[in-house]
Amino acid sequence: FRVDWDMEQAEKNGFDHFMLKEIFEQPKALEKTMAGRVDKETNEVDFPELAWTEEQVAKWDKVHIVACGTAYHAGLLGKAAIEELTRTPVDVEVASEFRYRNPIVNENTLVIAVSQSGETADTLAALRQSKELGAKTLSITNVVGSSISREADNVILTLAGPEIAVASTKAYTTQVLSFYLLGIYLAQKKKQITPEQNAQYMAALQEVPEQMEEILFHNDEIKEYGESIKDAKSVFFLGRGIDTAVALEGSLKLKEISYIHSEAYAAGELKHGTLALIEEGTPIISLLTQEKLYDKMLGNIKEVSARGANVLGVTMRGNVKVTQYVDETCFIPETYSLFTPLLSVLPLQLISYYTSLALGNDVDKPRNLAKSVTVE
Ligand code: G6P
Repeated sequence: FRVDWDMEQAEKNGFDHFMLKEIFEQPKALEKTMAGRVDKETNEVDFPELAWTEEQVAKWDKVHIVACGTAYHAGLLGKAAIEELTRTPVDVEVASEFRYRNPIVNENTLVIAVSQSGETADTLAALRQSKELGAKTLSITNVVGSSISREADNVILTLAGPEIAVASTKAYTTQVLSFYLLGIYLAQKKKQITPEQNAQYMAALQEVPEQMEEILFHNDEIKEYGESIKDAKSVFFLGRGIDTAVALEGSLKLKEISYIHSEAYAAGELKHGTLALIEEGTPIISLLTQEKLYDKMLGNIKEVSARGANVLGVTMRGNVKVTQYVDETCFIPETYSLFTPLLSVLPLQLISYYTSLALGNDVDKPRNLAKSVTVE
């Protein structure tokens, strides 16, 4: 009698792929990342690993975020959060561009390097260059002891646990959460947030893991949609405001593992080019989570529908008006407009997973891609 002990199978914990397992681990990963960063008595954000003083924080007149791939997309949301909460200007740039120009970075700049692995060559080089230019450096990384975590002045560890699938999921949402917490932390230090606002933000963030569970519970409906687009020639993702950043991440996920051509577009830019590519039946995944932009988005949806596109709307529960304009709707629970990406990205991750699966691709190890890119 012999038992075949398949280590990989065991590590997948009953899921068919690491990617699906990691998608479903997100509520726990967020809880872990949040725990220890919230003062239980005051409910304020506290990063014991930073312990920055008010004077230090006041000195930084600019923040620069550098990263690659999915981490860059998290950085776009980091910009939105830090600018909204602290009114400090933030630049976000892919590390492979930043390092080959002459960036305006000095001792009054906070440079944040975001990297799941902590080993991406370009991000590491951008970090080193920033240090040489005198900037204060912070890394947001998932791997303890990684090069980027060792070389930065300070580290925020995302506690997502090991991420095996090449397509990043739980690392992304924990990076985004880290940026929200960091934004609130900086706002506290700069006295730009009232205790009431703080309490409201924290209550909303603490609700997110449970809200993620609700979305994951509707997995089967998302699966059907994912399968339905498997033969598409192109899939477009549309959004406005922070939804544009989520659209970029949704589009990258789909490209990475389904090999279907996809583009993400700021919906207002459609008429300046992309509209020419919309044909009868082209799938469009549109994000409508920002209330003040709903009407503008609906206008853009009308433009693509008139050209025969098949539109899926991802929107907040209760926004029934959208259903009159789109072919299919995916509702997500309500939260603060700034925090919606933590929820709206989940259906997009699942769509790419099920599309890839329906095509028979190697979901966890897509062709030509590597989990960690340590070459330049
Ligand atoms: C590779 C991976 C991506 C990842 C990027 C940056 O391209 O396939 O999923 O987003 O590297 O990796 P990092 O470890 O720096 O976050």
